[in-house]
Amino acid sequence: MKEGGKNMKCLAYVAIFIVFQIIVITIFALTVMKVKGPKVRFQTVTIQNFNSGSASSPSFSMDLVTKFAVKNPNFGQFKYSNSTVTILYGGQAIGSADVPSQKAKLKSTRRTDITISINSDKLSGNTTLASDFVSGVLNLTSECTLKGKVELLKIMKKNKSGNMNCTISLNLSTKSVQNFMCK
Ligand SMILES: *[C@@H]1O[C@H](CO)[C@@H](O)[C@H](O)[C@H]1NC(C)=O
Ligand SMILES: *[C@@H]1O[C@H](CO)[C@@H](O)[C@H](O)[C@H]1NC(C)=O
Ligand SMILES: *[C@@H]1O[C@H](CO)[C@@H](O)[C@H](O)[C@H]1NC(C)=O
Ligand SMILES: *[C@@H]1O[C@H](CO)[C@@H](O)[C@H](O)[C@H]1NC(C)=O
Ligand SMILES: *[C@@H]1O[C@H](CO)[C@@H](O)[C@H](O)[C@H]1NC(C)=O
Ligand SMILES: *[C@@H]1O[C@H](CO)[C@@H](O)[C@H](O)[C@H]1NC(C)=O
Repeated sequence: MKEGGKNMKCLAYVAIFIVFQIIVITIFALTVMKVKGPKVRFQTVTIQNFNSGSASSPSFSMDLVTKFAVKNPNFGQFKYSNSTVTILYGGQAIGSADVPSQKAKLKSTRRTDITISINSDKLSGNTTLASDFVSGVLNLTSECTLKGKVELLKIMKKNKSGNMNCTISLNLSTKSVQNFMCK
């Protein structure tokens, strides 16, 4: 075999190796190193200590017993600061609870039991409440912003946050959650 041919072959191997490396690095960059925000939602919601008035004098108070879930889609842990989860009726906050700071391990969901006491004290001027008592369904929404950081390979840290946006429908006659959905 000629020297030239050998060199060409060697160069070809180097070129193939470089292309292969670029592909590997690109795949790595697009999957493992890609940092996404966490999904924040309620996994379960149940009602305790339910008290309510009637359509002629609409009022309520209860505890929402929830499993608060933070799903971390990254290949590194997500560490978040303490926060607050708020329940609203027609855009008006009617109760809130603390969310403790925690860590969600890589590719996993961190669940925390959180109970939120709510009542209609702040809704006394709202006429929609009476019609909800007639229809028998009370719609609530929840909000929470979790701020934290994703740690990749212990060296790279990136700030990320997640927002909760759930709607909860309560059945006033069964005193239970009829339907809930999180975005
Ligand atoms: C987080 O905790 C600190 C100290 O306990 C407190 O001052 C702060 O208000 C909390 N933040 C939220 C969003 O609850
Ligand atoms: C009453 O609640 C409804 C939603 O059920 C909301 O659209 C409206 O803004 C509220 N009104 C007041 C005065 O808070
Ligand atoms: C409340 O729940 C009961 C029993 O499941 C059901 O029959 C009723 O239709 C519900 N009320 C509303 C307003 O959906
Ligand atoms: C409450 O939410 C349900 C869906 O969960 C919806 O079908 C219904 O129209 C809502 N009622 C009111 C008064 O907004
Ligand atoms: C990340 O968030 C922390 C507070 O949690 C803040 O001190 C820091 O400046 C932020 N870093 C960037 C790059 O935004
Ligand atoms: C929550 O989702 C609803 C639609 O389901 C949207 O109209 C609303 O703006 C969202 N709220 C926040 C705070 O993102």
